[in-house]
Amino acid sequence: MAKDWFAWHDLYNSQELLQQRLAIVQKYISDSLDAAPAGTIQVVSACSGDGRDLLGVLETHPRAKDVRARLVELDPKLVERGKEAIAKLGLTDQIEFINGDATLTANFAGHVPADVIIVAGIFGNLPNEEVLQKLIRNLTYFAKTGAFAIWTRGERDGFRYSERVRAIFQENNFSEADFQLTATGNMAVGRHRFDSQTISEPLDEHFFEFTGTPEKAGLLVSTP
Ligand SMILES: C[S@@+](CC[C@H](N)C(=O)[O-])C[C@H]1O[C@@H](n2cnc3c(N)ncnc32)[C@H](O)[C@@H]1O
Repeated sequence: MAKDWFAWHDLYNSQELLQQRLAIVQKYISDSLDAAPAGTIQVVSACSGDGRDLLGVLETHPRAKDVRARLVELDPKLVERGKEAIAKLGLTDQIEFINGDATLTANFAGHVPADVIIVAGIFGNLPNEEVLQKLIRNLTYFAKTGAFAIWTRGERDGFRYSERVRAIFQENNFSEADFQLTATGNMAVGRHRFDSQTISEPLDEHFFEFTGTPEKAGLLVSTP
């Protein structure tokens, strides 16, 4: 059982669920970079862990030099590891990894609206559906018209939580570009395109609450 979020990341070494989830998230990130118009590609990632999803793609993606990113993560050890990976890629000037609270829209100011928004490992850690609705509503401030939001959601006890996620994205003018379950069957990954006009101010300064724990997230991993 993972005792903290840093230890939870070690599960990537052994757990198929997380490995499959990462592969799909990276495919969706890569496809989103492929689809971006010429010029700078702005990327933001909330609760980004050590940033392995985006940074893994940038290792080989032909548009890597066009990316300007801000990653926001609360655990300082994960941020440190992410920064080391950024330095190894030679992308220090373009990828900013901050040790901060991703629930505050202020921590993304100046970096949004973005072309790619990564919200992986968040939706299963919200206290209720109202908070999920609030978070997705606020993505209309984070997203340029045509931007992609990439998300994940665990399915527990046979309940397809991802169906509500898909519906809420649709209600907020995001159309579904991709959706896939991991081969383990209990993790959904989606990519939604924002088809409407970006709003110029955030609807909420504090746009979600992250109440999940690494112990609970670890349970999903070990009991498919
Ligand atoms: C389930 S992990 C997902 C990490 C990464 N996105 C991934 O998919 O591998 C959730 C992450 O959210 C971070 N986190 C929790 N609350 C946060 C907050 N308020 N602001 C920023 N990061 C937070 C945790 O430290 C943890 O690294």
